[in-house]
Amino acid sequence: MSWAAKSFDSSFEGLKFMKKIEAIIKPFKLEQVKDALDEIGIEGMTVTEVKGYGRQKGHTEIYRGSEYTVDFLPKIKVEVAVLDNQANAVMEAIIKAAQTGKIGDGKIFVVGLEQAVRIRTKETGDAAISA
Ligand SMILES: Nc1ncnc2c1ncn2[C@@H]1O[C@H](COP(=O)(O)OP(=O)(O)OP(=O)(O)O)[C@@H](O)[C@H]1O
Ligand SMILES: [Mg+2]
Repeated sequence: MSWAAKSFDSSFEGLKFMKKIEAIIKPFKLEQVKDALDEIGIEGMTVTEVKGYGRQKGHTEIYRGSEYTVDFLPKIKVEVAVLDNQANAVMEAIIKAAQTGKIGDGKIFVVGLEQAVRIRTKETGDAAISA
């Protein structure tokens, strides 16, 4: 069996299930979301500039003082890989930091994560996403 296949199997023997939390947020909320995740001990994240729209189709939202007439609005996607038992705390922290109560606050998608590998050490599963 290849190294990758073995590592994949062992993550299931240990029953350490993981999730990937993908949050689409307003760009000006990124610092607050990052600080909130730091505070609960999250040790890594990936941030991407993205564009999207929700049910208002982007038409009625204001971004930096001007109303966008296009369908796609600038958003930030924050991705965090966590153990199952951290997922609720991460979602709550993101909501608390990113919520304004106005339209376009964003969404959180929770995705089952099959495997993670720290490339330097080849650690896998929970060892790859925590200290
Ligand atoms: N169903 C979806 N699938 C993928 N991405 C989505 C979806 N809905 C929203 N998004 C992403 O989230 C961003 C923010 O969505 P938004 O908060 O406007 O959702 P909404 O459903 O319109 O809620 P609200 O009424 O609070 O505005 C979008 O710009 C898009 O990037
Ligand atoms: Mg919307």
